[in-house]
Amino acid sequence: MIYSIVKYPDPVLQRPAEPVTAFDSKLRRLVEDMFASMYEAEGIGLAAPQIGISKRITVIDLSFQKKPEDKIVLINPQVVAAEGKQYEEEGCLSLPEIRDKVNRAAHVKIQAQDVQGATFEMEGDALLARAFQHEIDHLDGILFIDRISRLKRDLQLRKIRKMIKAGEW
Ligand code: NI
Repeated sequence: MIYSIVKYPDPVLQRPAEPVTAFDSKLRRLVEDMFASMYEAEGIGLAAPQIGISKRITVIDLSFQKKPEDKIVLINPQVVAAEGKQYEEEGCLSLPEIRDKVNRAAHVKIQAQDVQGATFEMEGDALLARAFQHEIDHLDGILFIDRISRLKRDLQLRKIRKMIKAGEW
C-alpha cells in the first residue's frame, strides 16, 4: 500500500518514535510499503513518522531504484561514531519546496537492526552520511529546519505559512 506523506507541522514528525520490538511479517510488509511510498513521492529516504507511524524505521535508496544493493533498511538505528564536517543543501518530503544547507558530520558509523532483528553496522560518507543523519533525526522528532540558524528557520517557516494559507502545502 502507498501511504501519503505527512507534512510539517504534524506533531507525529516532532516527537521521538517508539523502538521496534516485533520482527514479524507485519514489519516486513511495512518496510516494503515504505519503499513503495518513498518511490511514489520521489524521495531517496523516508522515516516511518513521515507516513504517520511513530516507529524507529527508516528506508534509504540513494540510487532511486537503479541499484538494488543501494536499498537500505534501518530499524532502531543509532549513530555510533561521527567525524568531520559537511555543509550541504537538504530537502525533505515532509517539507516540500523547502531546501537549506545543514551542518552534518562528514562520515558516520551507524548501528541498526535488519528486518529479521539482526544487528549490523554500516559506514557512510558524503550523501549517505547525510541521509543517515537526516533520517535518524526524523526518528528523534527532529527536522532539518531545526538544525539551521534561527534567522533562516524563521524565513522558512514564514514561507511555509504562506504556502499553507494559499492551499499549496
Ligand atoms: Ni526528511
